[in-house]
Amino acid sequence: MKTNNNLTKIEFPMIRHFNMEAMKFDNIIKLTIGEPHFTPPTEVQNAAIKAIQNDEYRYVLSEGRDDTKKAILAYVKKHFNQQYNEDEIMITVGSTEALSSTLTALINPGDEVIIPSPAYTGYAPLVTLNNAKTVFVDTIKDDFQIRYHTFNESITSKTKCIVLNYPNNPTGVSLDAKSITDIIRIAKEHGIYIILDEIYNRLMIDQFTSITDTSVRDKIIIVNGLSKSHSLTGWRIGYVLASKPLIKLIMKVHQYVVVGVNTITQFAATQIDCDIDERIEYYKSNVLYAYERLTNMGLNVVKPNGTYYIFPEVPYDSEKLFYDLLEKEKVAIIPGTCFGNYPKHIRISCACDFLDLKEALNRIERLLTDFSNLNSK
Ligand SMILES: Cc1ncc(COP(=O)(O)O)c(C=O)c1O
Repeated sequence: MKTNNNLTKIEFPMIRHFNMEAMKFDNIIKLTIGEPHFTPPTEVQNAAIKAIQNDEYRYVLSEGRDDTKKAILAYVKKHFNQQYNEDEIMITVGSTEALSSTLTALINPGDEVIIPSPAYTGYAPLVTLNNAKTVFVDTIKDDFQIRYHTFNESITSKTKCIVLNYPNNPTGVSLDAKSITDIIRIAKEHGIYIILDEIYNRLMIDQFTSITDTSVRDKIIIVNGLSKSHSLTGWRIGYVLASKPLIKLIMKVHQYVVVGVNTITQFAATQIDCDIDERIEYYKSNVLYAYERLTNMGLNVVKPNGTYYIFPEVPYDSEKLFYDLLEKEKVAIIPGTCFGNYPKHIRISCACDFLDLKEALNRIERLLTDFSNLNSK
């Protein structure tokens, strides 16, 4: 009996492969995975413990608990000036489920989905599973920004939506003002949906700007979650913000796939506006330090203004650099090939202890100096 053909088109993420390779070695400094090294804030932990002690074990409403939704709506208004009502939010199993349920709700077989690259590896497989086609648009010549003419020529009558991830994994770059104007223009001209994956928008170096233009509000779907900002990667909590009719559609998918989100985690998320400034400052300072070190090494790097990633260009095949760094210097990074056709870039995750980052950068510098000495002979 034949199983789902789409699965033959999907591979396990290459990031996972390189991370597993790194795990074969002892005492490695791992700058691979985008997972904060801090534990969840105390307020969040206590809310979860209290929920267990109060016997909060029952099914909850598919769209999410009322006070969890209220807390998140107040938080997005306060921090990102995003104004949504209680029937314009749904609580999801991480931003991954928010994205997956949204794509299933929007896509028909044969549709096209535009994704700027370099791109987070989680998107294209979800498009394939929905019998649609991913159209990657390279942003490297525009310093990873969105420019009207580059994107406009990739849009066809089959284009359903564009998935934007800013601040971006792997580049750390956020949208500039021109990108925002150009995206709005494209969405209006072609009537396409804009999915905004804003999972890193609290981890900013500069001020974060979302797309809040009211003329495209009914086309915007925002996915977000607490994994990165609140160190809740394993607790699987996220949310989707969109117009009421869109939320109703997305919920149709969600209620059959997950029913609803884990009750305990939803209680924890009522504390979303707890103080996380210190950890944000910590990663900001890590990223700025890495930027300074990498530019001093003579590497070409676009300065990140959010997330905890940095994506330098290296004078080396990035997969070869991965193995050389691992074997000679006991440092693990992620090759740029995991995010598209970027064989001369590497992604460094700075979501780690500063002293580890500093030592890893010393070792990267040593390897690159040895490499350039060898090549100049
Ligand atoms: C851009 C981006 N979106 C979504 C996710 C998944 O986040 P969540 O844990 O909320 O599902 C990640 C995780 O690395 C990511 O980098």
